[in-house]
Amino acid sequence: MSPINILHIVGARPNFMKIAPVMRAIEARSELVVTQMLVHTGQHYDATMSDVFFRDLRLPKPDLDLGVGSGSQAEQTGQIMVALERVIEERRPDLMVAAGDVNSTLAAALVAAKAGVPVAHVESGLRSNDWTMPEEVNRVVTDRLATLLLTPSPDANANLAREGADPARVHFVGNVMIDSLHAGLAAAKASHVHEMLGIAPNGYALITLHRPANVDDPRVLAPIIEVLLEVASDLPLVFPVHPRTRKRLDEMHLANRVQPQKNLRLVDPFGYLDFLALIASARLVLTDSGGIQEETTALGIPCLTLRENTERPITAEVGTNVLVGRDPARILPEVKRVLSGRGKAGRVPEKWDGRAAERVAEVIEQWWKRGGPRA
Ligand code: UD1
Repeated sequence: MSPINILHIVGARPNFMKIAPVMRAIEARSELVVTQMLVHTGQHYDATMSDVFFRDLRLPKPDLDLGVGSGSQAEQTGQIMVALERVIEERRPDLMVAAGDVNSTLAAALVAAKAGVPVAHVESGLRSNDWTMPEEVNRVVTDRLATLLLTPSPDANANLAREGADPARVHFVGNVMIDSLHAGLAAAKASHVHEMLGIAPNGYALITLHRPANVDDPRVLAPIIEVLLEVASDLPLVFPVHPRTRKRLDEMHLANRVQPQKNLRLVDPFGYLDFLALIASARLVLTDSGGIQEETTALGIPCLTLRENTERPITAEVGTNVLVGRDPARILPEVKRVLSGRGKAGRVPEKWDGRAAERVAEVIEQWWKRGGPRA
Protein backbone atom coordinates (compact mmCIF):
# COMPACT_ATOMS: atom_id res chain seq x y z
CA MET A 1 0.00 0.00 0.00
CA SER A 2 1.29 3.48 -0.80
CA PRO A 3 1.62 5.93 2.10
CA ILE A 4 -1.42 8.05 2.96
CA ASN A 5 -1.16 11.70 3.86
CA ILE A 6 -3.92 12.72 6.29
CA LEU A 7 -4.74 16.21 7.48
CA HIS A 8 -6.78 16.49 10.70
CA ILE A 9 -8.67 19.65 11.55
CA VAL A 10 -9.51 20.83 15.06
CA GLY A 11 -10.80 24.20 16.11
CA ALA A 12 -13.13 24.23 19.07
CA ARG A 13 -13.12 22.50 22.44
CA PRO A 14 -15.31 19.51 21.55
CA ASN A 15 -13.09 18.63 18.56
CA PHE A 16 -10.04 17.86 20.65
CA MET A 17 -11.43 14.77 22.41
CA LYS A 18 -12.75 13.39 19.14
CA ILE A 19 -9.57 13.73 17.07
CA ALA A 20 -7.07 12.61 19.77
CA PRO A 21 -8.09 8.91 19.80
CA VAL A 22 -8.51 8.88 16.01
CA MET A 23 -4.92 10.08 15.44
CA ARG A 24 -3.59 7.46 17.85
CA ALA A 25 -5.63 4.64 16.30
CA ILE A 26 -4.47 5.54 12.78
CA GLU A 27 -0.86 5.66 13.97
CA ALA A 28 -1.30 2.18 15.45
CA ARG A 29 -2.46 0.54 12.17
CA SER A 30 0.49 -1.61 11.18
CA GLU A 31 -0.48 -1.88 7.50
CA LEU A 32 -1.01 1.82 6.97
CA VAL A 33 2.05 3.95 6.22
CA VAL A 34 0.83 7.32 7.23
CA THR A 35 1.79 10.95 7.55
CA GLN A 36 -0.58 12.79 9.87
CA MET A 37 -0.72 16.54 10.14
CA LEU A 38 -2.79 18.38 12.74
CA VAL A 39 -4.16 21.84 11.94
CA HIS A 40 -5.79 23.99 14.64
CA THR A 41 -8.02 26.69 13.18
CA GLY A 42 -7.79 28.76 16.37
CA GLN A 43 -11.60 29.05 16.71
CA HIS A 44 -11.03 28.47 20.43
CA TYR A 45 -7.86 30.17 21.59
CA ASP A 46 -8.02 30.79 25.38
CA ALA A 47 -5.65 28.54 27.34
CA THR A 48 -8.64 27.15 29.28
CA MET A 49 -10.56 26.37 26.08
CA SER A 50 -7.69 24.92 24.07
CA ASP A 51 -4.08 24.47 25.35
CA VAL A 52 -4.91 22.37 28.40
CA PHE A 53 -6.80 19.87 26.23
CA PHE A 54 -3.73 19.07 24.17
CA ARG A 55 -1.89 18.06 27.34
CA ASP A 56 -4.80 16.22 28.96
CA LEU A 57 -5.65 14.28 25.80
CA ARG A 58 -2.02 13.60 24.79
CA LEU A 59 -2.81 15.30 21.50
CA PRO A 60 0.35 16.33 19.60
CA LYS A 61 1.07 20.04 19.32
CA PRO A 62 -0.63 21.29 16.13
CA ASP A 63 1.68 21.42 13.12
CA LEU A 64 -0.08 24.63 12.19
CA ASP A 65 -2.30 27.11 14.03
CA LEU A 66 -4.39 29.26 11.69
CA GLY A 67 -5.05 31.71 14.55
CA VAL A 68 -8.50 32.64 13.30
CA GLY A 69 -10.23 33.40 16.62
CA SER A 70 -13.68 34.91 17.14
CA GLY A 71 -16.06 36.60 14.75
CA SER A 72 -19.56 36.37 13.36
CA GLN A 73 -20.61 33.05 11.85
CA ALA A 74 -19.58 34.18 8.36
CA GLU A 75 -16.36 35.91 9.47
CA GLN A 76 -15.17 32.90 11.42
CA THR A 77 -16.12 30.35 8.74
CA GLY A 78 -14.77 32.50 5.90
CA GLN A 79 -11.44 33.22 7.58
CA ILE A 80 -10.87 29.54 8.30
CA MET A 81 -11.66 28.73 4.66
CA VAL A 82 -9.20 31.28 3.27
CA ALA A 83 -6.38 30.15 5.55
CA LEU A 84 -7.05 26.45 5.06
CA GLU A 85 -7.20 26.67 1.27
CA ARG A 86 -3.54 27.71 1.26
CA VAL A 87 -2.59 24.80 3.51
CA ILE A 88 -4.39 22.33 1.26
CA GLU A 89 -2.73 23.74 -1.86
CA GLU A 90 0.67 23.31 -0.23
CA ARG A 91 0.20 19.92 1.37
CA ARG A 92 -2.18 18.17 -1.04
CA PRO A 93 -3.50 15.67 1.56
CA ASP A 94 -5.10 12.40 0.44
CA LEU A 95 -7.78 12.75 3.09
CA MET A 96 -9.03 15.38 5.49
CA VAL A 97 -10.50 14.27 8.82
CA ALA A 98 -12.89 16.64 10.61
CA ALA A 99 -15.16 15.95 13.58
CA GLY A 100 -18.41 17.24 14.98
CA ASP A 101 -20.45 20.25 14.04
CA VAL A 102 -18.54 23.44 14.79
CA ASN A 103 -17.76 26.22 12.32
CA SER A 104 -14.24 24.82 11.84
CA THR A 105 -15.75 21.50 10.69
CA LEU A 106 -17.96 23.15 8.08
CA ALA A 107 -15.19 25.44 6.81
CA ALA A 108 -12.83 22.48 6.45
CA ALA A 109 -15.38 20.39 4.56
CA LEU A 110 -16.19 23.20 2.13
CA VAL A 111 -12.57 23.92 1.30
CA ALA A 112 -11.57 20.26 0.98
CA ALA A 113 -14.56 19.37 -1.21
CA LYS A 114 -13.81 22.20 -3.65
CA ALA A 115 -10.11 21.29 -3.75
CA GLY A 116 -11.02 17.69 -4.57
CA VAL A 117 -9.76 16.34 -1.23
CA PRO A 118 -12.01 13.63 0.26
CA VAL A 119 -13.37 14.31 3.74
CA ALA A 120 -13.92 11.80 6.55
CA HIS A 121 -16.56 13.18 8.91
CA VAL A 122 -16.30 11.79 12.43
CA GLU A 123 -19.65 12.03 14.29
CA SER A 124 -21.63 12.12 11.09
CA GLY A 125 -25.42 11.93 10.77
CA LEU A 126 -26.55 13.58 14.02
CA ARG A 127 -29.56 15.87 13.56
CA SER A 128 -31.49 18.09 15.94
CA ASN A 129 -33.83 19.12 13.08
CA ASP A 130 -33.57 22.59 14.60
CA TRP A 131 -32.37 24.90 11.84
CA THR A 132 -32.01 27.85 14.21
CA MET A 133 -28.83 26.22 15.56
CA PRO A 134 -25.66 27.07 13.61
CA GLU A 135 -24.46 23.52 14.41
CA GLU A 136 -27.38 21.95 12.49
CA VAL A 137 -26.40 23.82 9.32
CA ASN A 138 -22.81 22.71 9.88
CA ARG A 139 -23.85 19.05 10.33
CA VAL A 140 -26.04 18.80 7.25
CA VAL A 141 -23.66 20.58 4.88
CA THR A 142 -20.59 18.71 6.14
CA ASP A 143 -22.33 15.36 5.64
CA ARG A 144 -23.43 16.31 2.13
CA LEU A 145 -19.79 17.01 1.24
CA ALA A 146 -18.06 14.14 3.04
CA THR A 147 -16.86 10.92 1.42
CA LEU A 148 -16.64 8.81 4.60
CA LEU A 149 -19.60 9.26 6.95
CA LEU A 150 -18.57 7.83 10.33
CA THR A 151 -21.57 7.61 12.63
CA PRO A 152 -21.80 7.28 16.43
CA SER A 153 -25.26 5.71 16.71
CA PRO A 154 -27.95 3.99 14.60
CA ASP A 155 -30.18 7.11 14.57
CA ALA A 156 -27.40 8.86 12.64
CA ASN A 157 -27.46 6.09 10.00
CA ALA A 158 -31.23 6.49 9.72
CA ASN A 159 -30.90 10.27 9.25
CA LEU A 160 -28.33 9.83 6.49
CA ALA A 161 -30.45 7.20 4.75
CA ARG A 162 -33.46 9.55 4.86
CA GLU A 163 -31.34 12.28 3.24
CA GLY A 164 -30.30 9.91 0.47
CA ALA A 165 -26.65 9.38 1.42
CA ASP A 166 -24.95 6.57 -0.48
CA PRO A 167 -24.98 3.61 1.98
CA ALA A 168 -21.49 2.62 0.84
CA ARG A 169 -20.18 5.82 2.40
CA VAL A 170 -21.83 5.33 5.78
CA HIS A 171 -20.05 3.42 8.55
CA PHE A 172 -21.42 2.91 12.07
CA VAL A 173 -18.21 3.13 14.09
CA GLY A 174 -19.53 4.20 17.51
CA ASN A 175 -18.68 7.17 19.65
CA VAL A 176 -15.06 8.37 19.67
CA MET A 177 -15.75 10.78 22.58
CA ILE A 178 -16.17 7.71 24.74
CA ASP A 179 -12.70 6.50 23.69
CA SER A 180 -11.27 9.67 25.21
CA LEU A 181 -13.46 9.25 28.25
CA HIS A 182 -12.16 5.71 28.85
CA ALA A 183 -8.57 6.81 28.24
CA GLY A 184 -8.93 9.75 30.65
CA LEU A 185 -10.85 8.24 33.56
CA ALA A 186 -7.87 6.65 35.32
CA ALA A 187 -5.83 9.85 35.09
CA ALA A 188 -8.86 11.86 36.23
CA LYS A 189 -8.79 9.94 39.55
CA ALA A 190 -5.61 11.86 40.41
CA SER A 191 -7.41 15.20 39.95
CA HIS A 192 -7.60 17.47 43.01
CA VAL A 193 -10.51 19.42 41.65
CA HIS A 194 -12.91 18.44 44.45
CA GLU A 195 -10.51 19.58 47.20
CA MET A 196 -9.79 22.73 45.25
CA LEU A 197 -13.50 23.57 45.12
CA GLY A 198 -14.21 22.35 48.66
CA ILE A 199 -16.93 19.94 47.51
CA ALA A 200 -17.51 16.28 48.30
CA PRO A 201 -17.85 13.63 45.58
CA ASN A 202 -21.58 12.96 44.97
CA GLY A 203 -22.43 16.09 46.92
CA TYR A 204 -22.91 18.64 44.12
CA ALA A 205 -24.49 19.30 40.75
CA LEU A 206 -22.44 20.34 37.71
CA ILE A 207 -23.75 23.05 35.37
CA THR A 208 -22.70 24.07 31.86
CA LEU A 209 -24.46 26.49 29.50
CA HIS A 210 -23.23 28.05 26.31
CA ARG A 211 -25.81 27.61 23.52
CA PRO A 212 -26.68 30.96 21.93
CA ALA A 213 -30.39 30.12 22.35
CA ASN A 214 -29.89 29.81 26.13
CA VAL A 215 -27.37 32.50 26.92
CA ASP A 216 -27.80 35.31 24.38
CA ASP A 217 -31.31 36.40 25.40
CA PRO A 218 -31.86 37.79 28.93
CA ARG A 219 -35.49 36.57 28.84
CA VAL A 220 -34.14 33.03 28.66
CA LEU A 221 -30.94 33.29 30.69
CA ALA A 222 -32.36 35.20 33.68
CA PRO A 223 -35.04 32.57 34.52
CA ILE A 224 -32.44 29.79 34.12
CA ILE A 225 -30.21 31.57 36.65
CA GLU A 226 -33.19 31.86 39.03
CA VAL A 227 -33.70 28.08 38.74
CA LEU A 228 -30.05 27.49 39.55
CA LEU A 229 -30.29 29.78 42.59
CA GLU A 230 -33.26 27.77 43.81
CA VAL A 231 -31.51 24.42 43.32
CA ALA A 232 -28.47 25.85 45.12
CA SER A 233 -30.50 26.10 48.32
CA ASP A 234 -30.53 22.26 48.38
CA LEU A 235 -27.15 21.37 46.88
CA PRO A 236 -23.87 23.08 45.99
CA LEU A 237 -23.63 23.85 42.26
CA VAL A 238 -20.39 24.09 40.29
CA PHE A 239 -20.74 26.12 37.11
CA PRO A 240 -17.63 26.33 34.88
CA VAL A 241 -18.50 29.31 32.71
CA HIS A 242 -17.86 29.26 28.94
CA PRO A 243 -16.40 32.58 27.62
CA ARG A 244 -19.59 33.30 25.62
CA THR A 245 -21.70 32.86 28.75
CA ARG A 246 -19.30 34.89 30.92
CA LYS A 247 -19.69 37.82 28.53
CA ARG A 248 -23.47 37.58 28.58
CA LEU A 249 -23.71 37.25 32.37
CA ASP A 250 -21.62 40.41 32.72
CA GLU A 251 -23.58 42.34 30.07
CA MET A 252 -26.89 41.37 31.70
CA HIS A 253 -25.58 42.09 35.23
CA LEU A 254 -26.56 38.56 36.20
CA ALA A 255 -23.18 37.74 37.74
CA ASN A 256 -24.09 40.16 40.59
CA ARG A 257 -27.35 38.31 41.14
CA VAL A 258 -25.41 35.07 41.65
CA GLN A 259 -22.61 36.35 43.86
CA PRO A 260 -24.44 36.37 47.24
CA GLN A 261 -25.44 32.68 46.84
CA LYS A 262 -22.23 30.96 47.93
CA ASN A 263 -23.64 27.57 46.93
CA LEU A 264 -23.63 28.55 43.22
CA ARG A 265 -19.97 28.69 42.22
CA LEU A 266 -19.13 30.41 38.93
CA VAL A 267 -15.64 29.25 37.97
CA ASP A 268 -13.42 29.31 34.87
CA PRO A 269 -13.66 26.37 32.43
CA PHE A 270 -11.67 23.29 33.48
CA GLY A 271 -9.27 21.12 31.53
CA TYR A 272 -10.45 17.74 30.28
CA LEU A 273 -9.31 15.56 33.19
CA ASP A 274 -10.57 17.86 35.96
CA PHE A 275 -13.87 18.15 34.15
CA LEU A 276 -14.14 14.37 33.79
CA ALA A 277 -13.48 14.02 37.52
CA LEU A 278 -16.32 16.49 38.15
CA ILE A 279 -18.79 14.70 35.87
CA ALA A 280 -17.90 11.24 37.14
CA SER A 281 -18.93 12.01 40.72
CA ALA A 282 -21.71 14.55 40.20
CA ARG A 283 -25.14 13.85 41.75
CA LEU A 284 -26.66 15.55 38.76
CA VAL A 285 -25.60 17.42 35.63
CA LEU A 286 -27.57 20.31 34.09
CA THR A 287 -26.30 21.24 30.65
CA ASP A 288 -26.99 22.36 27.10
CA SER A 289 -23.82 20.78 25.71
CA GLY A 290 -23.90 17.93 23.20
CA GLY A 291 -20.82 16.09 24.42
CA ILE A 292 -21.85 16.16 28.08
CA GLN A 293 -25.15 14.44 27.26
CA GLU A 294 -22.98 11.59 25.90
CA GLU A 295 -20.45 11.53 28.72
CA THR A 296 -23.17 11.34 31.39
CA THR A 297 -24.89 8.53 29.48
CA ALA A 298 -21.62 6.60 29.26
CA LEU A 299 -21.01 7.09 33.00
CA GLY A 300 -24.62 6.54 34.15
CA ILE A 301 -24.82 10.01 35.73
CA PRO A 302 -28.26 11.71 35.68
CA CYS A 303 -28.33 14.53 33.10
CA LEU A 304 -31.00 17.16 32.57
CA THR A 305 -30.60 18.94 29.24
CA LEU A 306 -31.87 22.50 29.04
CA ARG A 307 -32.97 22.28 25.43
CA GLU A 308 -36.19 21.38 23.62
CA ASN A 309 -34.40 19.02 21.23
CA THR A 310 -31.21 17.05 20.91
CA GLU A 311 -29.13 15.82 18.00
CA ARG A 312 -28.19 12.94 20.31
CA PRO A 313 -31.59 11.29 20.93
CA ILE A 314 -29.97 8.01 21.94
CA THR A 315 -28.83 9.65 25.20
CA ALA A 316 -32.50 10.23 26.08
CA GLU A 317 -33.90 7.00 24.60
CA VAL A 318 -31.26 4.66 26.02
CA GLY A 319 -29.15 6.75 28.39
CA THR A 320 -29.69 8.88 31.51
CA ASN A 321 -30.54 12.09 29.68
CA VAL A 322 -33.88 13.92 30.12
CA LEU A 323 -34.77 16.91 27.94
CA VAL A 324 -36.26 19.51 30.27
CA GLY A 325 -36.31 22.61 28.08
CA ARG A 326 -35.96 26.03 29.67
CA ASP A 327 -39.14 26.39 31.65
CA PRO A 328 -38.49 26.42 35.42
CA ALA A 329 -41.82 24.61 35.94
CA ARG A 330 -40.39 21.61 34.07
CA ILE A 331 -36.80 21.79 35.28
CA LEU A 332 -37.42 21.96 39.04
CA PRO A 333 -39.58 18.82 39.40
CA GLU A 334 -37.00 16.83 37.40
CA VAL A 335 -34.21 18.10 39.66
CA LYS A 336 -36.23 17.02 42.72
CA ARG A 337 -36.86 13.61 41.16
CA VAL A 338 -33.13 13.01 40.68
CA LEU A 339 -32.20 14.31 44.14
CA SER A 340 -34.75 12.03 45.77
CA GLY A 341 -33.13 9.03 44.05
CA ARG A 342 -35.93 8.56 41.51
CA GLY A 343 -33.87 9.72 38.51
CA LYS A 344 -33.95 7.87 35.21
CA ALA A 345 -31.69 4.84 34.89
CA GLY A 346 -29.88 4.30 31.61
CA ARG A 347 -27.80 1.91 29.54
CA VAL A 348 -24.64 2.47 27.54
CA PRO A 349 -25.42 2.54 23.79
CA GLU A 350 -23.96 0.05 21.34
CA LYS A 351 -20.35 0.71 20.26
CA TRP A 352 -19.76 3.30 22.99
CA ASP A 353 -17.06 0.94 24.16
CA GLY A 354 -13.84 2.93 23.92
CA ARG A 355 -12.89 1.34 20.58
CA ALA A 356 -14.65 3.58 18.08
CA ALA A 357 -11.43 5.21 16.88
CA GLU A 358 -10.02 1.77 16.00
CA ARG A 359 -13.06 1.27 13.77
CA VAL A 360 -12.52 4.70 12.21
CA ALA A 361 -8.92 3.74 11.41
CA GLU A 362 -10.10 0.42 9.97
CA VAL A 363 -12.59 2.18 7.66
CA ILE A 364 -9.90 4.58 6.46
CA GLU A 365 -7.46 1.73 5.84
CA GLN A 366 -10.02 -0.27 3.86
CA TRP A 367 -10.93 2.82 1.82
CA TRP A 368 -7.27 3.47 1.04
CA LYS A 369 -6.75 -0.18 0.07
CA ARG A 370 -9.65 0.05 -2.37
CA GLY A 371 -7.94 3.00 -4.09
CA GLY A 372 -8.89 5.95 -1.84
CA PRO A 373 -10.20 8.88 -3.88
CA ARG A 374 -10.38 6.64 -6.96
CA ALA A 375 -12.47 4.02 -5.10
C1 UD1 B 1 -18.61 26.60 19.63
C2 UD1 B 1 -19.44 25.72 18.70
C3 UD1 B 1 -20.36 24.84 19.51
C4 UD1 B 1 -19.60 24.06 20.58
C5 UD1 B 1 -18.84 25.05 21.43
C6 UD1 B 1 -18.04 24.37 22.53
C7 UD1 B 1 -19.92 26.68 16.50
C8 UD1 B 1 -20.97 27.29 15.66
N1 UD1 B 1 -20.25 26.52 17.79
O1 UD1 B 1 -19.53 27.50 20.26
O2 UD1 B 1 -21.00 23.92 18.65
O3 UD1 B 1 -20.49 23.33 21.38
O4 UD1 B 1 -17.95 25.80 20.59
O5 UD1 B 1 -17.36 25.26 23.33
O6 UD1 B 1 -18.85 26.38 16.01
N2 UD1 B 1 -14.40 32.80 23.11
C9 UD1 B 1 -13.37 33.17 23.94
N3 UD1 B 1 -12.30 32.34 24.06
C10 UD1 B 1 -12.23 31.17 23.37
C11 UD1 B 1 -13.28 30.82 22.53
C12 UD1 B 1 -14.38 31.63 22.41
O7 UD1 B 1 -13.41 34.22 24.58
O8 UD1 B 1 -11.22 30.46 23.51
C13 UD1 B 1 -15.57 33.69 22.96
C14 UD1 B 1 -15.59 34.29 21.57
O9 UD1 B 1 -14.97 35.51 21.54
C15 UD1 B 1 -17.06 34.41 21.25
C16 UD1 B 1 -17.69 33.34 22.09
O10 UD1 B 1 -16.75 32.90 23.06
O11 UD1 B 1 -17.57 35.65 21.65
C17 UD1 B 1 -18.17 32.19 21.25
O12 UD1 B 1 -17.14 31.46 20.59
P1 UD1 B 1 -17.43 30.63 19.25
O13 UD1 B 1 -16.28 29.78 18.92
O14 UD1 B 1 -17.96 31.56 18.23
O15 UD1 B 1 -18.67 29.71 19.61
P2 UD1 B 1 -19.00 28.86 20.91
O16 UD1 B 1 -20.13 29.51 21.59
O17 UD1 B 1 -17.76 28.55 21.71
